[in-house]
Amino acid sequence: MAFLASRLSAVKPSPTMAITALAAELKAKGRDVIGLAAGEPDFDTPDHVKKAANEALARGETKYTAAEGSPELRKAVAEKFKRENGLEYAPNQIIIGCGGKHVIFNALAATLDAGDEVVIPAPYWVSYPDMVLLMGGKPVIVEAGENNAFKMRPEQLDKAITPKTKWLILNSPSNPTGAAYTKDELRAIADVLLKHPHVWVLTDDIYEHLVYDGFKFHTIAQVEPRLYERTLTMNGASKAYAMTGWRIGYAGGPAPLIKAMGMIQSQSTSNPCSISQAAAIAALRGPQEFLKDWQQAFKARRDLVVTMLNEAKGLRCATPEGAFYVYPNCAGVIDKKTPEGKTIGNDTDFATYLLEAEGVAVVQGAAFGLSPNFRISYATSAEVLKEACTRIQRACAKLA
Ligand SMILES: Cc1ncc(COP(=O)(O)O)c(C=O)c1O
Repeated sequence: MAFLASRLSAVKPSPTMAITALAAELKAKGRDVIGLAAGEPDFDTPDHVKKAANEALARGETKYTAAEGSPELRKAVAEKFKRENGLEYAPNQIIIGCGGKHVIFNALAATLDAGDEVVIPAPYWVSYPDMVLLMGGKPVIVEAGENNAFKMRPEQLDKAITPKTKWLILNSPSNPTGAAYTKDELRAIADVLLKHPHVWVLTDDIYEHLVYDGFKFHTIAQVEPRLYERTLTMNGASKAYAMTGWRIGYAGGPAPLIKAMGMIQSQSTSNPCSISQAAAIAALRGPQEFLKDWQQAFKARRDLVVTMLNEAKGLRCATPEGAFYVYPNCAGVIDKKTPEGKTIGNDTDFATYLLEAEGVAVVQGAAFGLSPNFRISYATSAEVLKEACTRIQRACAKLA
């Protein structure tokens, strides 16, 4: 009898592991490695948020809270949904998790039976398909390619839905492409969902505040109120407030689903960290003006990276609406030879070449389900990005 559960056999080890391990090995050998793989803002958590955490600590808020989150934070989240998204959620329709990842995990754990299908547009955030597999569900991958700005077309969704479909997972702005759906694009997706009343939407809005060039963020339950009863609107503090280490994510949705997720939480993690919850209240209710400065900084970095990558031989890079990622196409370097005589057969080979030849760590598109591409996170300084892109240009120029 195997000791490890059989359901684990469906889950792959992260495809980013190999490149991360190689980067660590090169660094240990003293190589100058520039990491462009990080999925977190390089800014510090704002001071007023840290202050709120210190004050909570001084007040002795160091005990358990309700498993689904403190009443005050749930209220602050309800206020946020009303203020920023025009969505009304009562506190019993809100759950706080240990990061957005935990919220998604619990939603899938609460709803998926063996064989249930979940539609996931590719390229996708790496955790979605594996979480579905872990619950015994079946990820149904829909290719949202560069020809449609990395967005799923309504007719693709319509075709992917079967009687077994339980969820559509939408992520806008997206990790890994930065693509964000406009209100009209969401409207068209909503129209398809209205035809299929058994399908729910899990919308991952974690990059909501990171949009550029005047892009106006919308979330699907706001665009189509008739979907409200079958939408889980998920968001979190990690990306908007540079709070990845604090582990606070949240969602609003129908009370029975939230209750079921709360039950899982009460039997697994219990409440998210009490001090982090106090900090998140300050983040949500405090000043939001600094977000404009962050947006400006990210936009300037995005433009720098897109321009320099488009100057690299064999690469093509679209300008995304949001997040802090770009997802350049590298079809033009496939089948080329490195100076050492190795053939670049796919995007994993290309990512390995960039790391070995120039010490630039990126993530290959294969990890996100759409190739040949790679993901660059531009959540680092303009100087570092300029140096990294110069190295990428040099690496591409050396291919024959
Ligand atoms: C699309 C997407 N959703 C969710 C998460 C999870 O964020 P958290 O740190 O809140 O768990 C991430 C983090 O990388 C992400 O990129």
